[in-house]
Amino acid sequence: MYNRRTFMLGATATAAALGLAACGGEGAGSGGPDTDAAPSEQTVGVAMPTQTYERWVADGDNIKKGLEEKGFTVDMQYAGDDIPTQQQQIDQMINSGVSALLIASIDGASLSSQLDAAAAVGIPVIAYDRLLTDSENVDFYVTFDNYTVGVNQANALLFGLGLLDESFEPSPDAPEGPLNVELFAGSLDDNNAHLFWQGAIDTLQPFFDDGTLEVPSGQMDIDQAATQRWEQETAQKRMETLLTTHYAGGKEIDGVLAPADPLSRGILNALQNAGRGDTIEDGLPIVTGQDAEIASIKLIADGVQHSTIFKDTRNLAEQAIISTESILTGEEPEANDTETYDNGVKVVPSYLLEVQMVLQSNYEEILVETGYYTEEQVEAGQL
Ligand code: BGC
Repeated sequence: MYNRRTFMLGATATAAALGLAACGGEGAGSGGPDTDAAPSEQTVGVAMPTQTYERWVADGDNIKKGLEEKGFTVDMQYAGDDIPTQQQQIDQMINSGVSALLIASIDGASLSSQLDAAAAVGIPVIAYDRLLTDSENVDFYVTFDNYTVGVNQANALLFGLGLLDESFEPSPDAPEGPLNVELFAGSLDDNNAHLFWQGAIDTLQPFFDDGTLEVPSGQMDIDQAATQRWEQETAQKRMETLLTTHYAGGKEIDGVLAPADPLSRGILNALQNAGRGDTIEDGLPIVTGQDAEIASIKLIADGVQHSTIFKDTRNLAEQAIISTESILTGEEPEANDTETYDNGVKVVPSYLLEVQMVLQSNYEEILVETGYYTEEQVEAGQL
């Protein structure tokens, strides 16, 4: 259930600060959105982090198209993964009088003064995919089930290593181990990175505890495994260093938990360059992923990357638009989780979408037969 009290707290605090009546259909005062305004009179500000990850480009395109189809004007900006740029872009959207803000942050905690400024003039804020933290002024959150992403990544790794069977139950033919794995996490300033990690570690922990899995580097804290700004090159370099430092003399490495496809590809480059096999069949370790990027789907089809997690950004964009419309017409957006996403100041009511594990055995069914990618795109490894 949507937490009405939390939403009203934000609105009431704003109205009180300005000495205004609470928002309603009374015209576009600064106490909240003008709930009578037609979409054609409204601009939605959309702040996106970067274009270097394929998904954010797709998210942006889908949001823009969907909002425009509803009649809204869209002010969409990408920030090149630079925090001050994103702050300025949002400042500018607020100054130009947008009706609502949809924000996929770079650093979830870095936008508090922008969120305060938006609240002061009654602009509702929806966090998109990544939670906005340390602020009261976040009205709603649309995202995927991020903890389950991590669970699925770990299950894919365990399946690839032969420890789980196709039903993800302990395999009767499991190797005894110990098997050697290394762990990678995303950017620490992205709240999602922590949920992916938690889901994965909770799932792997029993296998560490009984000695089936080992991490020869000993780097088992998220701080040690993190990849600042989710950069591919950083992950590749860390993998190279891990190999030279902890796997000298051809010591076996069996698998790598990788939290996003560009990082997976960096890790695979490092493994291949170090002569650790070209495909899984000839000994390349099991490497997981996330986002179902086209280049990684080709690698999965070719037996190089083991798996990824598909998060249908078309659905996320659609959900973001539905939530925006609800808020702009004075309704409570529909939430399906009002417990998980505590941003340090309040629990932000959220709508979570489901995710799917993609393997060589099911990528056609999940991604090609549904029209997400064509067979030609998979063959070419590009859109
Ligand atoms: C998103 C992932 C993405 C990562 C890097 C996360 O916040 O949820 O889908 O791979 O950021 O851009």
